[in-house]
Amino acid sequence: MTDADAAPSSVGVVVVAAGSGSRLGADLPKAFVHLAGRPLLAHALDTIARMPGRAEVVVVAPAGLTDPGGPLWSGVVLPAGAVVVPGGAERTDSVAAGMAALGQGCEIVLVHDAARCLMPLAVFSRVVEAVRAGAAGAVPGLPVVDTVKTVDAAGVITGTPERSTLRAVQTPQGFRREVLERAHASGLQATDDAALVELCGDDVVVVEGDPLGAKVTTADDLERAQWLLDRAATLGE
Ligand code: CTP
Ligand code: MG
Repeated sequence: MTDADAAPSSVGVVVVAAGSGSRLGADLPKAFVHLAGRPLLAHALDTIARMPGRAEVVVVAPAGLTDPGGPLWSGVVLPAGAVVVPGGAERTDSVAAGMAALGQGCEIVLVHDAARCLMPLAVFSRVVEAVRAGAAGAVPGLPVVDTVKTVDAAGVITGTPERSTLRAVQTPQGFRREVLERAHASGLQATDDAALVELCGDDVVVVEGDPLGAKVTTADDLERAQWLLDRAATLGE
């Protein structure tokens, strides 16, 4: 048995919660909007706090809202040892700020959207296990139900990717730390961390995601999340 087998690499989780939530249109940043009486961020952290082992947690909050004692933080329970840092203008900047605050001991980094506040624990575990098993990166994904088209600037269809090859990806997205750091240092731009890593030539695998992990983007999404919680309570889950 090697040392690596004996001591599973430690995990750091960067929870990005620094966005404004312009599409939700609330009068406060989205991560602090309430779902069942508590901020979206609180629900996300509840799950992360249940991760086995000693995950180190960094919450990336809007600049000016980094005091966990502040009124908007009411109802948020920070996992033991968690730190809060200010985010940046773009999500990528917020991820970089969170990653910079992780202790040197974290060898695997998970990046999670606070807005995916109901993502189940099992998905976090799947992502960690895939990276521990040797993947450079692992992201949760779901099969796509619609037929997807690519279009040009004029809206003319240029292609129809084979649906069975498509996945709609979610977070948490997990990476070996050096892989994610290299991707962020590359200066490349992409819409998620996996794409940055792919552009750097590292392989990222898809593990099974969960519809509960849908992102709260619009007011309709918030209503749906409330409905899912109510249903879970009714079913005694
Ligand atoms: N995020 C962040 N820093 C940013 C932008 C986004 O930490 N500069 C976080 C959000 O808080 C969210 C996640 O990234 O948890 C996914 O982003 P998105 O759903 O786009 O959230 P917002 O950018 O806040 O929403 P919108 O795009 O509607 O303004
Ligand atoms: Mg955004």
